[in-house]
Amino acid sequence: MDKLVIAGGYPLHGEITVSGAKNAALPIICAALLAETPLKLSSVPALRDVSTTYQLLKHMGVEVSADASGNVALDASEITSHEAPYEMVKTMRASILVLGPLLARFGHARVSLPGGCAIGSRPVDLHIKGLKAMGAEIHIEHGYIEASAAHLPNKRLQGARIFMDLVTVTGTENLMMAATLADGTTVLENAAREPEVLDMAECLIKMGARIEGAGTDVITVHGVERLQGASHQIVCDRIEAGTYMVAAAMTAGRVKLHNARADLLDAVIEKLREAGAVVEHDANSITVTGSKELRSVNIRTAPHPAFPTDMQAQFMALNTIAQGTGRVIETIFENRFMHVQEMQRLGANIEVEGNTAVVRGVEFLDGATVMATDLRASASLVLAGLVARGETTIERIYHLDRGYERLEEKLTALGAHVRRVH
Ligand code: EPZ
Repeated sequence: MDKLVIAGGYPLHGEITVSGAKNAALPIICAALLAETPLKLSSVPALRDVSTTYQLLKHMGVEVSADASGNVALDASEITSHEAPYEMVKTMRASILVLGPLLARFGHARVSLPGGCAIGSRPVDLHIKGLKAMGAEIHIEHGYIEASAAHLPNKRLQGARIFMDLVTVTGTENLMMAATLADGTTVLENAAREPEVLDMAECLIKMGARIEGAGTDVITVHGVERLQGASHQIVCDRIEAGTYMVAAAMTAGRVKLHNARADLLDAVIEKLREAGAVVEHDANSITVTGSKELRSVNIRTAPHPAFPTDMQAQFMALNTIAQGTGRVIETIFENRFMHVQEMQRLGANIEVEGNTAVVRGVEFLDGATVMATDLRASASLVLAGLVARGETTIERIYHLDRGYERLEEKLTALGAHVRRVH
């Protein structure tokens, strides 16, 4: 297993370019299943989860032609299988995103139930409840979701009014995709407002879908007969950007991020300024100047546009070396404090009480060997390693490779002393 070895204490300076958003690319790649002609995407990040999704679609008969600069053409004109097998789904939960498109276009889908993961049980009951509301017959047996619309007129899902009693990002995306080819109008209430949901809607509209309200909590979809391919550029990754912004703040450096949109990061920018970092931006770049006297901040995660859960671990890292005490409240996932024990190994002073972590800033962290448990926890350990005295070794960094494109290359370009050990 690869490890990352970081020598701490070097402020980050320079400029890097943010990649396309993982959490927009994954659902939009799955949306290719809805189209009868090729969907062309650009700015697709070169990530393990993206190649896993390509493998899954190829397994179904989709022709995938991807180049080395983030362009891909996905041709789903000849689908040969409607199944997402366990072996593939167990490595990436987002595979659940083929359920809606397969059911909408072919009237049948057999998708392995995604397992839980380190941060929580991650149920998909709201995905299933919504599809049932659209007339689908769904049984769960032998760990698979068996879904069918064969009993419906023309084997087509029916438009429905669906209230989601929890805000679910991929649930909203799955149901929005299913609704594009349904007979009639679907209204999704309490829909997720994440920018990646809006990016998917913009792509679906280019493919011929009729969608209103994406980006708000009520999304209306008027079903159409068929969708065609289109060309779409994946929106920039606000979480990757946020991660490097925190790195600049914590190392008291100055970093300019290209292909970064401040309008997607209001809550994060607000908190960075509250901590004492200077944040400047124009339409598609953000510059962060850090400080050696950062102040602790209180964080409470919630659905967009509130503070994103995917940035919680990164701000926990900031609080470990900031002045004062910061309270971090995680309201989205039931177990997203896996990074705490690892940070304590670096000398952090953190006490967890239920879904609240109380972080008392310390003078410095001391490098040690730590273990990554999930994607954003791994990122927070990299941030801690950048400021810790001495060397920090992070094990199991395959988690990082799932969500950060060319991480050590970008960090090294900013002056960090990072190396990957095979
Ligand atoms: C998406 O996961 C993201 N993944 C996650 O990013 C992100 O943390 C999460 O949204 C929240 O913003 C992708 O987009 C691929 P949810 P998702 O459904 O859709 C509960 C990362 O680091 N829930 O919005 O799986 C659920 O348990 C990853 O990039 C149900 O109870 O999250 C959670 O408590 C991690 N039943 C809450 O809702 C359901 O049917 C929000 O989950 C669905 C969800």
